[in-house]
This record gives sequence, C-alpha cells and structure tokens, in this order.
Amino acid sequence: MPAGITDENLLVGFDTADDAAVYRINDETAIIQTVDFFPPMVDDPYLFGQIAAANALSDVYAMGGVPKLALNLLCFPSDSLPPEAVAAILAGGLDKVKEAGALLCGGHTVEDQEPKYGLSVTGFVHPDKVRTNAGAKAGDVLILTKAIGSGVVTTAGKAGLLSADQIKAVYSTMTTLNAAAAQVMAAYDVRACTDITGFGLLGHAAEMASASGKTIHISAKAVPLLPGAQESAEEGIIPGGLLRNQEYLKPDVRLEKGIPFAIADLLHDPQTSGGLLMSVSPDCAQEMYARLKAVCPDARVIGTVKEASDVKVMVSWE
Ligand code: CO
Ligand code: CO
Ligand code: CO
Repeated sequence: MPAGITDENLLVGFDTADDAAVYRINDETAIIQTVDFFPPMVDDPYLFGQIAAANALSDVYAMGGVPKLALNLLCFPSDSLPPEAVAAILAGGLDKVKEAGALLCGGHTVEDQEPKYGLSVTGFVHPDKVRTNAGAKAGDVLILTKAIGSGVVTTAGKAGLLSADQIKAVYSTMTTLNAAAAQVMAAYDVRACTDITGFGLLGHAAEMASASGKTIHISAKAVPLLPGAQESAEEGIIPGGLLRNQEYLKPDVRLEKGIPFAIADLLHDPQTSGGLLMSVSPDCAQEMYARLKAVCPDARVIGTVKEASDVKVMVSWE
C-alpha cells in the first residue's frame, strides 16, 4: 500500500489486487467502493449500457456486498453520437442499476472522441462477510459461475462469423448480474472470490493464488465455454487483450500437455462482465454448487486449491 494511506478501518485497499476498496463504518456495516468504465464492445447502445453497468456492479458482488448507490461516467463525441444513442446507453445502465436494487443518483459527462460508459458504485457489506482474493485455503473447491469466451465470441460476432443463437448467448451472459450468485455465496463458507474480467480466467485465478499464498489447480475440461467460443478460437479469432494476458501470465501459469490450443487461448480471454470465481470450503461445496446451479445454469466446479508450488496456476487436461 502506498505510504500515507493506512487506516485501521480500511479493510481492503491496494495490496491484494481486489475488485474494490472496503471501508468499515461500524461493527455492522462496511462500504464497498468501485469504478469501472470502457468503450463499447457491441454496436447497440442500449445493450452496451446494460453490459457496462452489469460489469461495474459486479465488483460489489465479488466482494460479497450489495450495491446501494451508482453514478454514471459517460464520455462521448457530442458532434457525432446522436442524442438517442446517448439516451439509450444511459437507459441500459439505469435498467441494470434498478434490477440490482440500487439507486442511480447522477454522474459526470466528458466530451471524448471515443465513447465510454460505466459506473462508480457504492455497496454495503457486513465487515465479517467481506470476500477478497486473499482467503483461499488448500483443499478448497473452485467454482466458476459463468461460461468464458466473451472476448473471442464478441470479436467473432463483429466479423459476422456467428449464428444468431450464439450472439444471443454471449449478450445474455454479459448482461446477467452476478447478484443471484452473490446471494448464494453469502450463505456459505466461501473463503475467496473475484469476478472474471479483463485479465481472463487465468489472470484472475493467478491474483487469487498470489493474494492467498496458494497454487490454484484448474481442470481445463471442466471450464464452461460460451457457444461458438471454441470454434472461433480454433479459427484464430484472438482479441489483442488475450495475447497481452498470455504474455503477462507466462511465468505464473503452467499448462500441462494435451490442452487444445483453442482452449488454452480461451483461458486467457479477457472477459466483460464475467462470472464469479469462488474458493469454497470442501465441507459445503457440494451443497452450495447444487443451489448455485438453480440460479446460474452455466456454473461448474473447475478445480481445487493446493499448497503453493513454483507457479500460481496449474492447468491440466483431464
Ligand atoms: Co472485478
Ligand atoms: Co473492476
Ligand atoms: Co474480490
């Protein structure tokens, strides 16, 4: 943590690569503070607003909290983006904030050649119920709540390579709030949690492993993939962020022999509004997984946590 910003009530700050900051107000309540915004990955402005808001709200869910207040962050070129498109982006965001049961209370707009949208979100959590990257224990079961591949699939969609059903599936996953998954999580002994976003499944798993001082073992066969993801990756549809993740993670990840290259690529695929990765006590993992499946049909058990070895993440094909 940079010098000068220590405070006994700062429960989660800069040092564990967590999704948000958490600050204790009293013994019953801590606030979660987060911000996220980015340029459109889809053409439809209403859809973009929904995705950007779901993605920003997700960091509160990943910390075990409930979103309460949200503020818009909007950048757009007023000379070229029609007012209807701006209104549609904001309407998409508002609808997701309402669905989350939070209040959209204003925001800030900036003139910019490239549109960008997102939210700053404040959430509440009980100070004893904060989920961070740092608590995973050896023997824990790893559960992922959404299928991966949204980066590859949206890229393939832009190139006109996907069916209407495949496109529908990726849009549906990116606009789905992690609220239901977080609600199930709150009832169980989940020792660590993060959402899967720009660093991809392996990048966020490596952050959890590092913050927890453990090694995460992932069974690549068990990882749920979006429809069209594997085929698109096999055809060489690779977003730039995926290559950057691969380069960055090389020292931290061991990929065992036999993993198809397209699957290995997808494990590094940057996700937008991805699912929650949870490290769950083995005592309750089975029961929790059964409850999770009812609200997150794509949820899968994808691996386990072990004592630290020479890499942060080991991936096998079995
Ligand atoms: Co996050
Ligand atoms: Co974030
Ligand atoms: Co977290």
